[in-house]
Amino acid sequence: MRDLTFGIIKPDAVAANNSGKIIQRILDTGFKIRGLKLLHLSEKQAEGFYAVHSERPFFRSLVEFMISGPVVVMALEKENAVPEWRALMGPTNSKEAAPGTLRGDFGTDIERNATHGSDSKENAAIEIAYFFNQLELV
Ligand code: RTP
Ligand code: MG
Repeated sequence: MRDLTFGIIKPDAVAANNSGKIIQRILDTGFKIRGLKLLHLSEKQAEGFYAVHSERPFFRSLVEFMISGPVVVMALEKENAVPEWRALMGPTNSKEAAPGTLRGDFGTDIERNATHGSDSKENAAIEIAYFFNQLELV
């Protein structure tokens, strides 16, 4: 069964002109792009998106990073989309991510890690709805 997940190309990867390479990897891995847009998040939007992390020590720094430049938000379809997208991204910390993963190839450290991916189908639906309306999903 084909599922949806939600992904972000984070400000570090957009600023380094890696969006195109990352999108090509996504397509080459068999994902179908159902929604795609470039956004510059406001502080409120970033705080809302990462509300689950609001008590974590890295929250302020994460929000500042996520509003530091434009991001690409994506609705991605594939069989087992949530684990497949997390596998393509690699582990959270880019320093521990293997070459061939997006975070290994395009990220820098545990915060500046090039991409975001939903951690469950339920959160994927919530996160897609946070950024896309029905007319923006093909
Ligand atoms: P994401 O939500 O972005 O896909 O990443 P994730 O599930 O692998 O990691 P999560 O624990 O949800 O953390 C969200 C984002 O916060 C930043 N972070 N900084 N300084 C730190 O210790 C730290 N830990 C996490 C990263 O940008 C991470 O992707
Ligand atoms: Mg997460």
